[in-house]
Amino acid sequence: MGLRIKTPDQVNDQYVGWPSYDQDLERWAYVGPRTVADKFLPYLPTDGCTLADVGCGTGLSFQYYPGSSITGFDFCEAQLRRAERKVDTVVAVGTSVTLQIADVVNLSADTSDFDAAISVSVSEHVEDLCQMVSEMSRIVQRDGYFAITAPETQLDGCIRRDPEEVAEVISSLGLQIVEQFAYISHFQYADPDQPATYNCFIVRNTKAA
Ligand SMILES: C[S@@+](CC[C@H](N)C(=O)[O-])C[C@H]1O[C@@H](n2cnc3c(N)ncnc32)[C@H](O)[C@@H]1O
Repeated sequence: MGLRIKTPDQVNDQYVGWPSYDQDLERWAYVGPRTVADKFLPYLPTDGCTLADVGCGTGLSFQYYPGSSITGFDFCEAQLRRAERKVDTVVAVGTSVTLQIADVVNLSADTSDFDAAISVSVSEHVEDLCQMVSEMSRIVQRDGYFAITAPETQLDGCIRRDPEEVAEVISSLGLQIVEQFAYISHFQYADPDQPATYNCFIVRNTKAA
């Protein structure tokens, strides 16, 4: 596959044909959802909040936001069906989950519907990063926070982005980056010589209403 970027249809097909996503990602030592949650939780109300998981996939982030009301958005129905299996398991930690088919550049949610939003390991599939960030800021309340990641490593079929490029897109929308950090998300194909480095941006929704 190399440097050729997958089209949205190809991305959808990739995930439809990947029923072993959770098992493979565990083998690849995938820590994206937990790493983002560890840094992002201090920005959230301690008594739970409404949280949009943008590109939720199989729902690997759900377990890290106890007491929250999560809406998981993804355009791949097969991934949402896999996520459905986790809905009951997080009830025990006081978390409720609703799942919705939606494209991250056109989210099926009202303006200011959520206290906060996350998007982990998704932007590498999205050509129009500006529209994706704009949608995340639209659905989050003013002065609420959202976290978005982008890979600095070139991954097969994905879009690589320098942190400066992502920061520029966020700032151009009038939003404030309150924290930025790099992390190793996983080891591609479980190969220790192929670490995938990502940057995460925690953003305060300072956009004018
Ligand atoms: C690598 S998975 C990450 C899933 C989850 N956030 C995680 O950390 O495990 C990428 C997910 O983004 C979804 N996705 C990619 N492009 C999308 C788009 N334009 N709109 C909605 N979902 C998209 C895919 O279907 C897939 O489930």
